[in-house]
Amino acid sequence: MRTETPPTVRLEDYRPSDHLIDRVELDVRLDPHDTRVSATLALRPNPAGRAGAPLVLDGDDLTLLGLELDGQALAPDTFRADASSLTLHAVPQRPFTLRIETRLDPTANTRLMGLYRSSGVYSTQCEADGFRRITYFLDRPDVLSVYTTRIEADRAAAPVLLGNGNPVEAGAVAGTDRHYAVWHDPLPKPAYLFALVGGRLDRVAKGFTTMEGRAVEIAVYVEPGKRDRAAYALDAVERSMAWDERAFGRAYDLDVFNVVAVSDFNMGAMENKGLNIFNDKFVLASPDTATDTDYAAIEAIIAHEYFHNWSGNRVTCRDWFQLCLKEGLTVFRDQEFSSDMRSRAVHRIAEVRNLRARQFPEDAGPLAHPVRPKQYAEINNFYTATVYEKGAEIVRMLRTLIGETAFRAGMDRYFADNDGTAATVEDFLKAFEAVTGRDLARFAEWYERPGTPRVAVFGSYDAAAKTYRLAFRQTRPGAGADAPPLVIPIRLGLVGTDGPLIDAASGRVEDGVFVLDAAEDTLTFENVAAEPVPSLFRGFSAPVRVESALDAAARLTLLRHDPDSFNRWEAAQRVALGLMTAQVRGDAPEEAGADDFVGALGAFLDGEALRDPAFAAQILALPSEGDVADEIGTEIDPDAIASARRDLRRRLGAGLRARLLTLREELAEPAGTPFSPDASAAGRRALRNAALDLIAAADAETGTALAQAQIAAATNMTDRLAGLAALALLPGEAREAALAAFAERYADEPLVLDKWFAIQAMIPEDGTVARIRRLQGHPAFAMTNPNRVRSLVGSFSLANPTQFNRADGAGYALLAETVLALDGTNPQVAARLMTAFGPWRRLEPGRRAQAESALRRIVATQGLSRDVADIGTRSLA
Ligand code: ARG
Ligand code: ZN
Repeated sequence: MRTETPPTVRLEDYRPSDHLIDRVELDVRLDPHDTRVSATLALRPNPAGRAGAPLVLDGDDLTLLGLELDGQALAPDTFRADASSLTLHAVPQRPFTLRIETRLDPTANTRLMGLYRSSGVYSTQCEADGFRRITYFLDRPDVLSVYTTRIEADRAAAPVLLGNGNPVEAGAVAGTDRHYAVWHDPLPKPAYLFALVGGRLDRVAKGFTTMEGRAVEIAVYVEPGKRDRAAYALDAVERSMAWDERAFGRAYDLDVFNVVAVSDFNMGAMENKGLNIFNDKFVLASPDTATDTDYAAIEAIIAHEYFHNWSGNRVTCRDWFQLCLKEGLTVFRDQEFSSDMRSRAVHRIAEVRNLRARQFPEDAGPLAHPVRPKQYAEINNFYTATVYEKGAEIVRMLRTLIGETAFRAGMDRYFADNDGTAATVEDFLKAFEAVTGRDLARFAEWYERPGTPRVAVFGSYDAAAKTYRLAFRQTRPGAGADAPPLVIPIRLGLVGTDGPLIDAASGRVEDGVFVLDAAEDTLTFENVAAEPVPSLFRGFSAPVRVESALDAAARLTLLRHDPDSFNRWEAAQRVALGLMTAQVRGDAPEEAGADDFVGALGAFLDGEALRDPAFAAQILALPSEGDVADEIGTEIDPDAIASARRDLRRRLGAGLRARLLTLREELAEPAGTPFSPDASAAGRRALRNAALDLIAAADAETGTALAQAQIAAATNMTDRLAGLAALALLPGEAREAALAAFAERYADEPLVLDKWFAIQAMIPEDGTVARIRRLQGHPAFAMTNPNRVRSLVGSFSLANPTQFNRADGAGYALLAETVLALDGTNPQVAARLMTAFGPWRRLEPGRRAQAESALRRIVATQGLSRDVADIGTRSLA
């Protein structure tokens, strides 16, 4: 464990490597405790580096067994090796070869970085800095090498041996029980994209021919016995390959594309060249074990990792400050893919819900950072919603600003100009400047400063002149007084109060988009016959908070008449938020407002629920308690928010009861309908289950009966789990019996038990902390498995606001204990869990003090990892 204060790495200090590594030959002899790695590196001085500089290779937890330069063992006084680096004081000023032999213990590697063994399977995770746990190396993304990897293992323990690139050769090791495989990856890549896998795995595969005529074998590897759960992921790979050709002209470039599911994994998945490694949660799916949400996540993450083959691998990042260059862009690409596969409007709503739930709070708290950070102490703490999701929003705004055709041309230009190199955000923008002739320097400001911008909008109608004026003002909380205004694309239109669209023109609106690029600006529409309702930021055209004085009636007009689906949803959300925040603040009694809202939703359901059930389900799903907290901003009392939200759900459930009950009947699948995970079947289930949720909120007895019947009749996990989730909110014997039956049915299904852990962790009742402590002793729970920990403790701290934020501090204590218990074995996951303390300063004083003391307790602990120390220090700063 590291205890020293970690040095800060700064973007401004970047300089090219003094040395380059052109080729890497790895010979990896797998063994549970004594794995031997021999790395032969073809090095040369970097013409762009400092001549004569010593060679300093990165290492982490390595044992050096041998070191040769051009075939000669090195004298001990010519180098210095320790656990974290290998320094050669003087190296030749010409190409030379270094052979390094190291020893590893993959079984003891609980950090799940580098080479580790999980459920008997050897696999690797090298991003961001895991390769240095395999051998000493220039472990930085701007050092690109061609890799050849020989993997050897006991044949019975690891019949499958996979590497990057294409398979070259395989065979037995004469006179032993061992065998080997050689893989060659012809495309130069940074070390973070290296991977290997060895284990007993089942395989499903299918062929694909690229638009360039290359025959590719796509394969998905899973735990033995789970082949039938790999079919959906395999299909998603194929659809991703075809889509990237169609949408971006990007073809796959190797003969094989392998995906491997492993059960212990720190994050979602990893885009290693030709060998994507996944958390099995994002591969395995069957109707009985996976929900519609799981299917959608599998499709999105399979696509995400596949799309990295171009946005990340063919064009990689110069340094880790440029992480958004690959992540923001690839999230944008996977969002576009999912939108094309499903309903675009519904997907956009899901994207914005996610952005508001995770990125807005991050940007408003102590861990806020620019999309391109300027410094870091631990890079693994910067795989954040800001880099990923806000990064994707920047790419989307760029497309909105320049239009689809220019955007596609710019993407082509970016790939063409930067293929095979390690690029920067500037290189990305340069490609779009080249194809459009525009100067994007001011747009680039989006990458530079943290904080969610606010845009205030005031509308005024002049009946005599028949003009409508919109005045805009942008501000940037926390960005500093010197921050220049942002370039903000505002997609907008005017809606008539009684329906018909107002086709009013303004010279400054092009293709429905107004660009706000000054601190203040106004926009005038001519020939507006009657006072309109402005529909602003259609499709959520910029990641900002909008302040407008629209009243509930105007918003309900948008819900009825706006041609932009996103803004129809947004209008309903704003009305609901207004009702809940008014109750929390004890403003005016909002009886009438709530009745109008119920009436509007009723009319909406009558007209449209069956036409687009997925969209209707989104309309019925109220803003979360987190959304309300975010809206309120300071002195947050989670109990008051929860009770306001409970009251509104109860009102909706009571007011819409008859309609919701009928809808449930109308949406029920006729018996014997085969399961389909597609968007339309999933949409019907979503609406049916949203109805259940509201009915149960108003009437526990009916809710219990419906939920029990649904569980008993369920033919898929979506319906079964929705039934259980509804029951989970209704204390009593029925709930406990259903939970017990579920646990028994899925006793051998860890990924399904994760859902069971999560549902219990989210129960908004006093007994939950005690329940979680009990569940930590459940035989299926394991602190060594990141999915288990996230299900139980992650769900608790992120999705149970009243219990995590208990006034007595017991929720914070539980999280603090878990973070500390985990830090010794898996600092990355411990640090990630700890980010749940992020919003602590915005709580009311009592809870704020409790949260702060829990944080201080963590930070005061001796021997903290760099990961946890970094989050702790920044959270308290
Ligand atoms: N690049 C991976 C992705 O596709 C994530 C890697 C995360 N690594 C980490 N150390 N947190 O998003
Ligand atoms: Zn990614």
